Amino acid sequence: MKNLINITDLTVEEIDELVKVALDIIANPEKYQDACRHKLLATLFFEPSTRTRLSFESAMHRLGGSVVGFSEAGSSSSAKGESLSDTVQTVGCYADIIAMRHPKEGAPIVAERRTDVPIINAGDGSHNHPTQTLTDLLTIWRSKGRFNDLTIGLCGDLKFGRTVHSLVGAMARYTGIKFIFIAPEELRFPHYIIESELESRGIEYREVGTMEEVMPELDVLYMTRVQRERFFNEADYIRLKDTYILTPDKLDPAKKDMIVMHPLPRVNEISVAVDDDPRAMYFTQAKNGMFIRMALILKMLEVTV
Ligand code: NCD
Repeated sequence: MKNLINITDLTVEEIDELVKVALDIIANPEKYQDACRHKLLATLFFEPSTRTRLSFESAMHRLGGSVVGFSEAGSSSSAKGESLSDTVQTVGCYADIIAMRHPKEGAPIVAERRTDVPIINAGDGSHNHPTQTLTDLLTIWRSKGRFNDLTIGLCGDLKFGRTVHSLVGAMARYTGIKFIFIAPEELRFPHYIIESELESRGIEYREVGTMEEVMPELDVLYMTRVQRERFFNEADYIRLKDTYILTPDKLDPAKKDMIVMHPLPRVNEISVAVDDDPRAMYFTQAKNGMFIRMALILKMLEVTV
């Protein structure tokens, strides 16, 4: 694997290895503190981000490397009309590795053709978000100790939410996985992924309208934000934005060891009162993101420690 565009660019063995390295980084951070000395990461973010960009940048700094980049298209030459291809070709002259986020689906595929420097997709439109999935996998591993035999409920904007698309692509390769898609009619999980990842492999899934009807079954409840920026009209967003709000009482019938995940940012879909529940895992998830990105950078730069 030279570039990480889709989560399926990584084999399950490579994912196991990344998780193993991330766990070692957590246990022995000092061992890695100079691993990427004199290496340069470029973060090209054409869309807003807090966790993804800052965890990439923190990851590179904690490996002893350096970072350049921009956090909005408006501060780069794309505001002058430069094409993505030209921007990437230029940055490829400076950096050793590039993490990029772009509102257009497929943008990282354009980018990978224009440079020999490894490209990491940090989110492309409503398509994929493979490094969020690595974050999610490390979180599942640290909480559950396994990737098999899990019933995973995905709730909210399953149409435009790129994190759930990548997560399903990853989890569909393990055994004993059951998916329950919890979404309003308008925001259902894309059928093309159901066909290619689930039906082709005979993986069990259900589509339901409420979280209450499935709560007792779940090992993982993955909440998502309704993706306002992907809607064609504001009225639809307003109508759908508060379809699901997780509150402490809704967790009463859930398993005691169920985990609540969310890629963040949250808007209204998880009440802050849930944060005190030991099952709430979303801030731990954010922290895991830095460690697994450290492991990913090491792998992609072919650095051995
Ligand atoms: C997600 C994203 O950008 O897709 N955020 C993140 O990277 N942690 C989810 C979202 O924006 O809702």
